[in-house]
This record gives sequence, structure tokens and C-alpha cells, in this order.
Amino acid sequence: MLFLDSSDPSEIREIFTWGVVAGITTNPLILSREAGAQDLEPRIRAVIQASRGPVSVELTHETEPEMLQEAATYHAWDPERVCIKVPFSETGLKVLSQLAARGVRTNMTCMMNFNQAYLASLAGATYVSLFSGRIRDMGYDARPIIRETRAILDREQLASQILIGSIRHLIDVNEALQDGAHIVTVPPPILRKMLWNPQTERTIDEFNTAWRNRTQV
Ligand code: E4P
Repeated sequence: MLFLDSSDPSEIREIFTWGVVAGITTNPLILSREAGAQDLEPRIRAVIQASRGPVSVELTHETEPEMLQEAATYHAWDPERVCIKVPFSETGLKVLSQLAARGVRTNMTCMMNFNQAYLASLAGATYVSLFSGRIRDMGYDARPIIRETRAILDREQLASQILIGSIRHLIDVNEALQDGAHIVTVPPPILRKMLWNPQTERTIDEFNTAWRNRTQV
């Protein structure tokens, strides 16, 4: 399954017309780049309107009471659609497990290894987000981490879904899906690269040229 890693309502609206995307992930870095000075609430409401499925909105506070308050605010914007993205930490686990116990959809994020993803799924995360590109930035291979995480989720019948983010290349998408990711969240420019194949374009051109130039009998 594919999610879109974007907070740009017009880009989101356009790509959802393809019929291939099932949800949205945002984060404070994406929002600060794409939304500029716009307040978070109208921006997220615009993203919700332009899309379908879960929309992850990330907590920015770092203490438990503040994070719970922030989560309640975001959740109220659309309890059916907003998924609370909780950065991984000891406090993050406490916050996430309380949200999960209340039936709030959660996405534990910024995770780099198997043990973090396992803890997040034990705490009840709906999605466990591993960051492929940032794992590779540290010199580690993301592929065995995805495979091992999928194996433990299946073996212990944990309900979390593996969501792979930090996608830098098209091959990252393919490998993550082949290695057992349930979902890959893809930035729009990389999703557009998934469309393109020169042999497909040549083939369509050959067919249509032949049809236009056919001799009438
Ligand atoms: C995933 O949910 C995150 O928004 C994102 O993929 C982070 O990736 P980055 O490494 O490009 O910041």
C-alpha cells in the first residue's frame, strides 16, 4: 500500500485522482517547508479535504501532559481521519499507549531499528514508522530491519502495520515492499518517477502511430 509524504493540498488532490494512494503522512519539517507561516489547523484541514484515509499529524511537544494535550487537539479536528504521530522515546511510548487504549489511531515515528519498532507495536501503535533513508545515512542496511520487524509482527500476531518513510530513491519503495513493509509513504516526486518507463512510452507511441498511419481498405 502507498501513502503520500506531503502536506501540499494541491499536490495531494492531484495525486489522489490516480486512485493509488491510501493515506497521508506529514511531519513538522515537511510542514515548515511547504506550509510556511500558515497555521497548522487550516493546513491539516485542507490536507484532509484533499485526500482520503488516515492523515498523520506529528506531536511537537516533549513532556507527557503537553503531548497528550496536543494529541487531543489534533484528534478533535477529525477523529476518524487524524492519526497521531508520536516520536519514539520513553515518554512517547507512555503517550502512545494511552492514546491506543482510548482507541485513537497512532503512528510511532522516527524509528531506526528493530527493537524500537517492536516496542512501539507492543505499546499498540497502529503504524510503526521506520526511516529507510536515515537508517542508511548511518551506514546500516534498512532491508533486514524491515524483514525482521515483519517477521516478529507476524509471529506474535501484533496488529501494527510497518510504514516505511524517509524514501530517497524509487528503489527504496520497491525494496521496502518486497521486504515486508505494509505501507510505504512516498514523496510526490518519487511517486511520479514510478509512472515513467521509456519502453512503455515508445510502445504506446508505436501503436498509436501505426493506427494513425493505417492504410484504408
Ligand atoms: C515519514 O512519515 C516521514 O514524514 C518522512 O518520510 C521522513 O523522511 P525524511 O528523512 O525525508 O525527513
